[in-house]
Amino acid sequence: MSVKDSLFVPVGEPIEKTSNRVTVVGTGAVGMATVVSLLMQGITNDVVLIDVMEDKLKGELMDLQHGALFLKNPKISASKDYADSAGSKVCIITAGARQQEGESRLDLVQRNTDILKHIVPPLVQYSPDTILMIVSNPCDILTYVAWKLSGLPVNRVFGSGTNLDTSRFRFLISQRLGCSSSSVHGWIIGEHGDTSVPVWSGVNVAGVRLKDIQPKMGTDDDPEGWKKLHADVINAAYEIIKLKGYTNWAIGLSAASLTNTILKNLHNVHAVSVLVQGHHGITEEVYLSLPAILGDTGVVSIVKQTLNPDEQASLQKSAKAMAAVQADLKL
Ligand code: 2OP
Repeated sequence: MSVKDSLFVPVGEPIEKTSNRVTVVGTGAVGMATVVSLLMQGITNDVVLIDVMEDKLKGELMDLQHGALFLKNPKISASKDYADSAGSKVCIITAGARQQEGESRLDLVQRNTDILKHIVPPLVQYSPDTILMIVSNPCDILTYVAWKLSGLPVNRVFGSGTNLDTSRFRFLISQRLGCSSSSVHGWIIGEHGDTSVPVWSGVNVAGVRLKDIQPKMGTDDDPEGWKKLHADVINAAYEIIKLKGYTNWAIGLSAASLTNTILKNLHNVHAVSVLVQGHHGITEEVYLSLPAILGDTGVVSIVKQTLNPDEQASLQKSAKAMAAVQADLKL
């Protein structure tokens, strides 16, 4: 008799299939930051790593498993075979080429579209009920591509979008005001990229709109120059890429936060990339970020945000920019 059999009297069969399995495709810096964020916050205890590089997969798996004592005994697996991702509640796609210094997110579009063609169909084949979260860039275009490739209903495919931009925006404002990011309410919508739209008209602390205090806020003739904070949000990734070669921690925490809202059915509002056709006068079939309620069915509803004419015009311009890129895509 083995030690194990001498030690334990079996009572029930261990359950293999959990209801909170999360698959992360891509074990690069962003993928691993996402996995560590998920595990260290106990957002899920069932994570599957998928990638094409066998040694990287094995190395990351071992390195994470050796930290099990410091985590909540998670089930971590790693595989090149999508069958091992079966039954995932959420599938997070971080794989793909990332911006190099001097590249914009849009420069990656065809390369990463071609990569999605190999990722999305098997993910959906083995997890037909999954919710797809696209993190890879250009996030909005690739979310549209993933939606088309997946055949899933529109509520079950979204992009991490400007959830991160909104976090950067709220952080920068909080630094100026001396209060926490969670007490600064403000939204960046539109493209996760160079044409994102700051909704200055809605920025508030405890319901006090900053624009009521400084009507010129967000304009060029604002004496306090608040508009620069949005420029800093747009430049953030470029600056960090110049300094350390890539971004990963904030985007990983953002993806983990979105996953938490879904797995726990929190119905939090996040700025995420959703199909915006029909919203704010947009006629193109494109994905851009708007504040939306997320829950265990994915995108539950989209907030009918009040935008001033300039904000609406900027969002429509963003939509046209996305549609123009999509028009040249080889799906
Ligand atoms: C970021 O904004 C590169 O999209 C990534 O950090």
